[in-house]
Amino acid sequence: MAKLSKALAADLVARARAVRQRAYVAGSGFRVGAAVLGGSGAVYVGCNVENASYGLTICAERAAVCAAIAAGERELRAVAVVTGLQDPARPCGACRQVLAEFAPARGDLAVLLAGSGKAVARTTIARLLPDRFNFADIAKGRG
Ligand code: THU
Repeated sequence: MAKLSKALAADLVARARAVRQRAYVAGSGFRVGAAVLGGSGAVYVGCNVENASYGLTICAERAAVCAAIAAGERELRAVAVVTGLQDPARPCGACRQVLAEFAPARGDLAVLLAGSGKAVARTTIARLLPDRFNFADIAKGRG
């Protein structure tokens, strides 16, 4: 399990919970907030942004990852995801793949999942997405 202090974990969940209020959910009404901890120690947030052309919807996790990468981060240590459900929900497959791209070369990316209740589920990206597709596979077989 990736290491993360209790205080840092609580801060990430709080930041994800706060940004969740900014979600643009004109289609579903299902707000999601995410906060990622970059290798530098900085935190970046994102919320889901829906679109009338449904397939263009961006999940909160990927919005947060994009903010981190645009700020110069290349390794992410942790992510917190908060929904309005009573119990913690799990990140979608697309977001697992995108988060895994930036998991630390050594170690793992901690995943904290929370809902409207106090429970915070803890897992890691390696558990959520074992054997992912990666650039090393592409390098083996171009053309
Ligand atoms: N959603 C996320 O933001 N993250 C996930 O991991 C799963 C789903 C959003 C997308 C859409 O705006 C709404 O939740 C319902 O699918």
